[in-house]
Amino acid sequence: MNRAPARARDAFTSRLGVILATLGSAVGLGNIWKFPYLTGDNGGAAFLVVYLLATLAVGLPVMIAELVIGRRARADAVSSFERLAPPGGGAWRYVGVAGVCSAVFLLAFYSEVVGWVFAYLFESLRGAALSSDPAANAARFTALAHDPVAALGWQWAALAWAAGIIVCGVARGIEAVTKRLMPLLFLLLAGLAVHALTLPGAGRGLAFLLQPDFSRIGPAVVLTALGLAFFKLSLGIGAMITYGSYFRADQDIPLTATRVMLADLTVSLLAGIAIFPAVFSFGFAPASGPALVFMTMPAVFSQLPAGGVLLAVFFALIAIAATGAMLSILEVPVAWLVERHGWGRARATVAATLVIALFGAPAALSQGVGAAFTLAGRSVFELYDFLTSQLLMPLTGIAIALFVGRTWSAAALAAELGQGGGARRAALVGPLRVLLRWVAPLLIAVVLLHGWWGG
Ligand code: PFF
Repeated sequence: MNRAPARARDAFTSRLGVILATLGSAVGLGNIWKFPYLTGDNGGAAFLVVYLLATLAVGLPVMIAELVIGRRARADAVSSFERLAPPGGGAWRYVGVAGVCSAVFLLAFYSEVVGWVFAYLFESLRGAALSSDPAANAARFTALAHDPVAALGWQWAALAWAAGIIVCGVARGIEAVTKRLMPLLFLLLAGLAVHALTLPGAGRGLAFLLQPDFSRIGPAVVLTALGLAFFKLSLGIGAMITYGSYFRADQDIPLTATRVMLADLTVSLLAGIAIFPAVFSFGFAPASGPALVFMTMPAVFSQLPAGGVLLAVFFALIAIAATGAMLSILEVPVAWLVERHGWGRARATVAATLVIALFGAPAALSQGVGAAFTLAGRSVFELYDFLTSQLLMPLTGIAIALFVGRTWSAAALAAELGQGGGARRAALVGPLRVLLRWVAPLLIAVVLLHGWWGG
């Protein structure tokens, strides 16, 4: 059918480039506004233990499954299933199609939040976003989110930024940019964290973040950790399939996935250390989501010497984190258009970005002029979030686990795991297949059902 003409595939060029691009995907808004708060709120170090177990049971196995699919097929998310599906398994391609759809809807609302971050970065560089009063900050945020021109304009700016990088290609776009931005991210984050630790009363923030409280651990917290492990590692939209297809042949996939997971965890913890000591030091209540980023943190920084600079650093940091995540989401539909349909990269990037902007507009407007439009009590923004995080991504994740766990032979899996890692990796095949056949699909299914019925 519409196969692209054979031409040299773009790909990542160095092993470090692979790790930083993949880490760039994992690191995102989740590290700043989800992970630290959830850790603090759900038992601190005790939650981290549960998170690590969830990562071992679901996160890493599915991540490895996506990466091996991509590298074995050397194709976009849809073509990968077409190439690797067993005879008569034509329906597997719909897993890839679901991935492309989730990528579009995920970026349609993720880009809106990134737009807000860009707006605040711009404002803080102008020295305008500081108020010590969280209520004033809330009003400022509402004004931004409710202004249709600003909301759309900043969303488009965020999308254009990602598209401008994607159009340059895999090596010269994604790899080149993440290779520069990720070290900068670590530097800025470490600087903010060290600074936060010097604040009076920092210990209370650290205690909130890390003090183990095993009594908090119950079924709901376990499910939260599972969902977080899944979202954090960018699973269930074919992003890791697409990136895996650009991996070098000698890349050790299990080792790379583990390193990325640990580095991502480090970013989350550093973010928590940069945020909560400062929050507690000035007597603010810990929060998550937009309330934390756009209301509490500006108030916190306004109390500090050179707070304006620190606030700009904080938003630059979030913008950097979100950039790598956006790149990996946008690359899913772009790779599909280029490879499956033979489009040029520029045309594919523009088309995918326009479609995302089109679907993104109602999400961006849903805070203000479009607030009256709801479906089953959800705004468009919340609807997209539900459609992706609670529906398409988990279902796709289950299918991916089953695809590798059940349709691949042990020998095929061993061959992929062994590349770059040597024969020792063969020992992983048995446990990995058990996890992919049973453990990961069942656990994801429980999270899915809990999300629907448990609230
Ligand atoms: N891992 C990103 C975060 O934590 O913000 C979110 C994400 C990026 C999810 C890319 C899925 C994806 F494909």
